Amino acid sequence: MFIKLLCFFPLFFISGSATIFWNPFFNFPVQNQNNKPSFRGENAETGYKGKWELVSQNSGVSAMHAILLPKVNKVLMYDATIWRISKFPLPPQKMPCHMVDPVNKIQDCWCHSVLFNIETSELQALKIETDTWCSSGGLTVDGNLVSTGGYRGGANTARYLSTCDNCDWKEYPTALADPRWYATQVTLPDGGFIVVGGRDAFSYEYIPREGQSNKKSIFLPFLRDTSDNINLGKQNFFRLENNLYPFVHLATDGNLFIFANNRSILFNPTANKVVRELPVLPGGSRNYPASGMSVLLPIKLYVENPKDIPADVLVCGGAQWDAFYFAETKKQLMPALKDCGRISIMNKNAVWKKEVMPSARVMGDMTILPTGDVLMINGAKTGTSAWGDAEEPNLIPVLYKSNAKRGNRFQELASGTIPRMYHSSAVLLPDGKVLVAGSNTNDGYRYDVKYPTELRVEKFSPPYLDPSLATLRQNILVDTSDKIINYGKRFSVKVKSKELRLSKLGDLKLTMYAPAFTTHGISMNQRLLILGVVDVINNVWPGIHNIIAVAPPSGKVAPPGYYLFYVVYKGVPSVGTWIQIK
Ligand SMILES: *[C@@H]1O[C@H](CO)[C@@H](O)[C@H](O)[C@H]1NC(C)=O
Repeated sequence: MFIKLLCFFPLFFISGSATIFWNPFFNFPVQNQNNKPSFRGENAETGYKGKWELVSQNSGVSAMHAILLPKVNKVLMYDATIWRISKFPLPPQKMPCHMVDPVNKIQDCWCHSVLFNIETSELQALKIETDTWCSSGGLTVDGNLVSTGGYRGGANTARYLSTCDNCDWKEYPTALADPRWYATQVTLPDGGFIVVGGRDAFSYEYIPREGQSNKKSIFLPFLRDTSDNINLGKQNFFRLENNLYPFVHLATDGNLFIFANNRSILFNPTANKVVRELPVLPGGSRNYPASGMSVLLPIKLYVENPKDIPADVLVCGGAQWDAFYFAETKKQLMPALKDCGRISIMNKNAVWKKEVMPSARVMGDMTILPTGDVLMINGAKTGTSAWGDAEEPNLIPVLYKSNAKRGNRFQELASGTIPRMYHSSAVLLPDGKVLVAGSNTNDGYRYDVKYPTELRVEKFSPPYLDPSLATLRQNILVDTSDKIINYGKRFSVKVKSKELRLSKLGDLKLTMYAPAFTTHGISMNQRLLILGVVDVINNVWPGIHNIIAVAPPSGKVAPPGYYLFYVVYKGVPSVGTWIQIK
């Protein structure tokens, strides 16, 4: 065990104290010179820039929308029914075909939604009738999908998909009062959903109980006021919008942070009231079709939770406000935005703090990693969303180190090779890899063009999956750990470890990730909580440590449902396991 004793550096400085954690039993790969205090220790950094793997040549449908479904560990992927084509014919057990037009006998015999097995890349066919094009979604308390909106006949639809073996879609085409095309669906503290915005829908509504229909929606002037037009004269307007797929994050006090175009509000959805407007984020437009990206940064919880829990939002990239006009009418592609703004939304006098990314990005995805860092991936360096309106795919993912000092937060990672622009997606997997799929800048399934409809699926391994860090990975013992946790209550997680002891003060971090519904560069309901650790009881059995943690205090902080639970040690996450909070 003492091999390579000479080449490791056994001192690790611990947050805000003089304690020194000395572990002579481990060959730590790299000297950690960065000993400034940070939340729960330092992350292992090796210079490894990550790795790409191609895991499937054919996802059947191009993954315009994607979400990891709890328990079954399958990624649900779907695009649109409008083209009546995909790369996956409906199998015999899903017959008869969908009758598109009974008069002219036009049928659609293709799958438009599939379950993708993340271990084997096998596909399972699903059958959908209403058009999910540019729709929204989220998971129920029981881990089932609720999808809303889409195109034409799908626009007012609520759809349900359970994770049982032979389950398929159930669709209710009149559930919503307003058409929701490019709307955002958000989970509320009680596990219900709100749907905000969409094309020509300056309103919001709550998803009704399954099978019921909303009579009316609630007007939200903010959405009208953030919708851009260009006045071409003579009553002729070019519609830019720049506020579709608004970024909506549930704040830690139960209000909603709603960002559209370059403005944002904190909104109380129960009182139908704007709590306050936050400052404008200058620099350009951030929402569809200008399509920047946004995350609610990891929320830190402690054993004792304070009344006000801070929350930061990050908004990055996008396009200048009139870029869509130039792209659509002149095929003149403007450079994408290169800046980010970060703001503490719970702070009454909050201001945006700007940061500059290593490269410009429009239509990118931001995926929160189990460590609390954020992966920026996919997208383009010029243009906007919409058919053929972008060029220069941004193939280089960037790691945003949420916890580092401003100026030290960005790191460029290993370049991909497959352009992932309009209609691509990124999904965090239990093993800490990120599944990357989709990209279709064509109105239909086209393969004879510069950017063909993309059906290949890849996995990107972030730097923490450096093989030289493998021994740092803790192994959660699912059978003897709590899998259902209750608000504010303690729970226990047992890990099998190569460390002789773990310390709650040291490099240990417990995180909970709410699976995101990702489409068009927006990751709805994405959320990572960093939990308070009460105690670690080492060696309850040789090599097995029992970690006692506190569950999040309420549904405002963590809406009820399934989360991927990770034990992160020295910046290296375990394989995540599913826990349900209620
Ligand atoms: C915010 O966006 C609007 C609409 O695009 C624009 O007119 C305004 O100048 C922008 N404000 C700032 C401060 O950038």
